[in-house]
Amino acid sequence: MRTLIIYSSKYGFTEECADYLKEGIKCEVAIKDIRLNKQIDLTGYDWIIMGSSVYVGKISKKMKAFAERNIDKLLKRNIALFVCCTTPNDVDKYLSEGFSTKIYEASKYNANFGGKLQRDKLNFFERKITDMISKKEMKPQEILYKNMDSLIEFINLNENGDDKKRDE
Ligand SMILES: Cc1cc2nc3c(=O)[nH]c(=O)nc-3n(C[C@H](O)[C@H](O)[C@H](O)COP(=O)(O)O)c2cc1C
Repeated sequence: MRTLIIYSSKYGFTEECADYLKEGIKCEVAIKDIRLNKQIDLTGYDWIIMGSSVYVGKISKKMKAFAERNIDKLLKRNIALFVCCTTPNDVDKYLSEGFSTKIYEASKYNANFGGKLQRDKLNFFERKITDMISKKEMKPQEILYKNMDSLIEFINLNENGDDKKRDE
């Protein structure tokens, strides 16, 4: 079995999660940063895991466009989706609005790996935005190892796919 992890990360949190998945999944795993790889060959992979951080309510535009361009190939494989964000209640919304309905519905596992606001790394506008939003709803979170371990276990046990599962 071969697995491909495609991720989008601006300040490294999602990248850390993708690396953690790579270490835990027992089969051959390739990992690609969507921001550096416009064309990604999906040939030969049984599982495709796509994960993105969320900025102002949206997953990465490059991830969304990639999934649209490759929808036919993606739908022939086992798909798992994850987001990294600081409002866990909105995870389903981010995934269902970020990916097309067909991909969202075909996904065998949807996950939230948490998120971190790294204020020192943000530019002026990003700091203003997070200051405004965090007063209302954004809660600093840490990396959710439990949720990553659940996805790793799911893939290791279901090499050929299984019923759709949603983590807690
Ligand atoms: C400007 C800005 C806007 C953000 N908007 C959202 C948001 O709308 N919803 C959310 O849940 N998290 C939001 N976040 C939190 C990020 O998703 C979180 O910091 C994540 O860990 C970033 O991951 P990355 O370093 O891989 O890009 C925002 C963060 C920043 C800096």
